[in-house]
Amino acid sequence: MATASELSIDGMIAELMALAAISAAEPPVVTRVVFSEADLRARTFVKALCADAGLAIHEDAVGNTFARWTGSEPDLAPIGTGSHIDAIPNAGLYDGSVGVLGGLEAIRVLKKLGFQPRRSIELVIFTAEEPTRFGLGCLGSRMMGGVLSPAQARELRDKAGCGLEELRANAGFTGTLESVRLAPGRFHQFVELHIEQGPQLEAERLDIGLVTHIAAPASLRIQIDGEGGHAGARLMPGRRDALVAASEIVLALETAVLATGAIDTVGTIGVCDVFPGAVNSIPSRVRLETDIRDIDADRRDSVLDMLRETCAAVANRRGVTITTNLVNADPPATCDAEILSALEQSCVAAGKSYKKMVSRAYHDSLFIARLCPVAMLFIPCRGGVSHRPDEYASPEWIGSGVHVLARTLAQLSG
Ligand code: GLV
Ligand code: MN
Ligand code: MN
Repeated sequence: MATASELSIDGMIAELMALAAISAAEPPVVTRVVFSEADLRARTFVKALCADAGLAIHEDAVGNTFARWTGSEPDLAPIGTGSHIDAIPNAGLYDGSVGVLGGLEAIRVLKKLGFQPRRSIELVIFTAEEPTRFGLGCLGSRMMGGVLSPAQARELRDKAGCGLEELRANAGFTGTLESVRLAPGRFHQFVELHIEQGPQLEAERLDIGLVTHIAAPASLRIQIDGEGGHAGARLMPGRRDALVAASEIVLALETAVLATGAIDTVGTIGVCDVFPGAVNSIPSRVRLETDIRDIDADRRDSVLDMLRETCAAVANRRGVTITTNLVNADPPATCDAEILSALEQSCVAAGKSYKKMVSRAYHDSLFIARLCPVAMLFIPCRGGVSHRPDEYASPEWIGSGVHVLARTLAQLSG
């Protein structure tokens, strides 16, 4: 199969750039928060491309979008591919979008070659892979996989207090949340193309990473309530400063993570809201959002336990109240040997260098793994940079990823 010559990578890059321009921020910054005006316009753009490619489009009650190329045996469970198009604030243009537009380009090239799949091939655009709006990653795939129940989803609120129900209705997504969950076997297999978001492939000059495991993410929200007051008139003895207490927790997380001695354990506190947030006012309340990950769920949970113990000790010592709320603690996923073998064969056939590796970022495939066998392929990104406007993957890297994906989809669906 001579897919390399049929690939229209320049055209796909132009589509990536056009998608990137649909942003709440000035170029080159991409900000596309789920159900925002930019997200809705981006969906319209991608759906139009899918329709042009002759795919049949269907959306579920939270906006997960399915674009299907019907196979010659349409009753067979399809092969799924895809990723997300939402983007965190101040993001770049490749995270997620490469998997969506790359999946579409893989389908288009197979069509151009006259390939006829036996199983349908379905491109999926997942809703809200990023946790920006609801504080919970992979909303759409989590609900598809039955990991987040409709009752839990109804409780989700954004920072402005708007609920998922209201936001999805305003975005035009109706139907019951119960209908989002898919039956196991709804897909036969699922394969996701993504940028690595780390430095290994570029450093080792490799074209492709074959993902064997996806690390297990957990998130703990911590609220510290202390006592506010005048920053000048209130003397230091007896203060119950919520931010000083929070600082101890931030450092304790780093200590707990390093104490595992494992390179695969990582911990981050990326959100710190300080109330009232005035230079001359003692912080009375702080909210922290922590992100802890590992490929070993028990080891990750030991860090969570240590963090909770620190919270109790700090509360006791500093006379503040600390409440913790576990947002999620997901198991890791192991990628499927048969899909990995198909990916490996595709790399060899396409003349692409590769290695097996772990995904330390989470992806929708983590939750689709509840429904069917999954695997992922990574392409390099410059300097390992991601979640930043200077994120970059070269057309050659993208072309290699799409080429290998196209071959793999052909093999799995044939
Ligand atoms: C996904 O965006 C992640 O944070 O791993
Ligand atoms: Mn991301
Ligand atoms: Mn992503």
